[in-house]
Amino acid sequence: MHLSGSWTLLKGLLIPLLFSGSISAIELDISDEQSIKDAASTTTYAMMTYYHGNETGHIPGSFPTKWWEGSALFLALLQYWHFTGDTTYNDELRVGLEWQAGDNDYLPTNYSSWIFTSRANGWAKGNDDQMFWGLAAMTAAELKFADATNIGSGYSWLSLAQGVYNYQIKEWDTTTCDGGLRWQIWTYESGYDMKNSISNGGLFQLAARLARYTNTESYATWAQKIWDWSVSSPLLSNTTWNVADSTDTTNNCKTQGDDQWSYNYGTYMMGAAYMYNYTNGSTVWLEAVNGLLNKTFDHFLSDDILEEKLCEPSASCNDNEILFKGLVSSWLSFTALLVPSTYDTILPVLQTSAQAAAKSCTGHNNNTCGVTWYKSEYDGLIGMEEQISATNIFVANMIAFDSSAPVTSTTGGNSTSNPTAGENDTSTSTSNESVITSGDKAGAGILTAVFVAGWVAMMGWTVLGG
Ligand SMILES: *[C@@H]1O[C@H](CO)[C@@H](O)[C@H](O)[C@H]1NC(C)=O
Ligand SMILES: *[C@@H]1O[C@H](CO)[C@@H](O)[C@H](O)[C@H]1NC(C)=O
Ligand SMILES: *[C@@H]1O[C@H](CO)[C@@H](O)[C@H](O)[C@H]1NC(C)=O
Ligand SMILES: *[C@@H]1O[C@H](CO)[C@@H](O)[C@H](O)[C@H]1NC(C)=O
Ligand SMILES: *[C@@H]1O[C@H](CO)[C@@H](O)[C@H](O)[C@H]1NC(C)=O
Ligand SMILES: *[C@@H]1O[C@H](CO)[C@@H](O)[C@H](O)[C@H]1NC(C)=O
Ligand SMILES: *[C@@H]1O[C@H](CO)[C@@H](O)[C@H](O)[C@H]1NC(C)=O
Ligand SMILES: *[C@@H]1O[C@H](CO)[C@@H](O)[C@H](O)[C@H]1NC(C)=O
Ligand SMILES: *[C@@H]1O[C@H](CO)[C@@H](O)[C@H](O)[C@H]1NC(C)=O
Ligand SMILES: *[C@@H]1O[C@H](CO)[C@@H](O)[C@H](O)[C@H]1NC(C)=O
Repeated sequence: MHLSGSWTLLKGLLIPLLFSGSISAIELDISDEQSIKDAASTTTYAMMTYYHGNETGHIPGSFPTKWWEGSALFLALLQYWHFTGDTTYNDELRVGLEWQAGDNDYLPTNYSSWIFTSRANGWAKGNDDQMFWGLAAMTAAELKFADATNIGSGYSWLSLAQGVYNYQIKEWDTTTCDGGLRWQIWTYESGYDMKNSISNGGLFQLAARLARYTNTESYATWAQKIWDWSVSSPLLSNTTWNVADSTDTTNNCKTQGDDQWSYNYGTYMMGAAYMYNYTNGSTVWLEAVNGLLNKTFDHFLSDDILEEKLCEPSASCNDNEILFKGLVSSWLSFTALLVPSTYDTILPVLQTSAQAAAKSCTGHNNNTCGVTWYKSEYDGLIGMEEQISATNIFVANMIAFDSSAPVTSTTGGNSTSNPTAGENDTSTSTSNESVITSGDKAGAGILTAVFVAGWVAMMGWTVLGG
């Protein structure tokens, strides 16, 4: 067993060491394919100990207080399966990803009731939440995860991505800021006043991926439209490549909530990579990829190791934020495949990050991973999110051995297309309406202040306050 040179770490582990005779660590040899698979297997196993959706009395794919995180879990599982060939979790993955489909657009019917019952806990439905489930379904189609024809309504993965897209483009809101998607879906939610990067950059990415998979121009037109609007707003600069977190509709998007989060950069970069590939190598999209990649690395690396700079040094990352660099790891690996000229820049960072992450997975004498990777030791934190991000960075490194890129409908993808998916869903609203009755609205209004305070505290998004 390899012992870390750090005295602090040694002290922390001395007692368990005396009893067990060894320190548990993930031994990662980055040049060895099997070693990477083994590391991913270890973290994925631990990640799945937090998932109970396949157990009696539980609902597949449901994380009632943090619904969107189910999509992050399934995204990690999809890539784990694809790059390692381990099918252990495929049944849970397939059932969970299908179960939450709602009316073909990832707005499951329990959703609105969850909003009411858990508002006091700071839980809300955002466009970004729905979008992440759409991206998970898109990934399933692109990695040739077989459609779930015999589960529930049997929506195909591609149609689920299309359903989310169809729902969200109807929410495009020109009543303020000449366009853009709001953060929250329902008017009574405070985030409704914000237009933010993850929602718009997420839909941009989804549209670009649909364009490439289906080779359909209308998706690309929307991707371009979302991009252009983002550039015209304070969210995205196509000269400095700064990506802000949010902007405010109450002053017509004049101000910028400029918190720097890695996933905001990552989602625009990933979408630009798909547009580059879809356009067979447009130089404009190449510039965008390079510009955003450069800034991502400028802002979110310590010694070539991915770091969420806004919260890691102060050990204040919330559950969402712990997942960001894991998502970015995945998006970097896909970008390296879709824009081959970036491969030599991206792979070394994925490698140093994975090596550091492995050294962070020495907790509790059972390979528990921490939040921070750059310290190359366990930081004492524990949770599903830590395990998901570690899985993400390990499987991202598999592109060194398996360069099979996400497929399209002409390169092996067979997920069934339904261009009008989700359009039968009448239970949900467009951005200027609400399904909520006026009685509900009055109640919601009273609770909003409580809800907002909780949400802001949870997200650490200071922008709402100022
Ligand atoms: C590792 O140990 C911790 C502390 O006992 C525990 O909470 C966690 O579930 C364990 N992880 C695994 C994968 O067994
Ligand atoms: C749920 O899946 C896990 C694998 O992650 C498996 O160990 C467990 O037996 C399954 N439980 C049920 C009830 O199917
Ligand atoms: C909605 O809730 C019901 C009752 O708890 C449950 O049976 C069903 O599976 C849930 N659906 C989803 C999509 O979570
Ligand atoms: C689509 O491809 C997947 C994976 O290659 C395969 O399992 C599935 O049977 C195929 N579906 C159809 C309808 O051909
Ligand atoms: C940046 O965006 C603006 C506004 O959309 C556009 O006019 C300009 O051509 C873009 N510049 C580059 C270098 O793409
Ligand atoms: C890219 O090239 C392929 C193959 O030549 C072609 O079918 C496709 O239409 C091209 N895409 C675009 C957006 O020009
Ligand atoms: C698009 O992605 C494929 C798969 O990685 C790659 O072979 C191809 O070269 C890319 N296209 C361009 C224009 O770089
Ligand atoms: C990003 O670009 C700037 C300006 O060209 C350069 O100084 C910097 O080193 C680049 N950063 C990375 C990480 O390549
Ligand atoms: C909408 O509902 C009708 C009637 O149930 C059905 O025939 C049609 O296939 C549905 N369309 C979509 C896109 O789901
Ligand atoms: C809501 O938006 C639709 C178009 O999306 C528009 O036709 C309608 O007038 C709007 N209603 C209100 C009350 O603004």
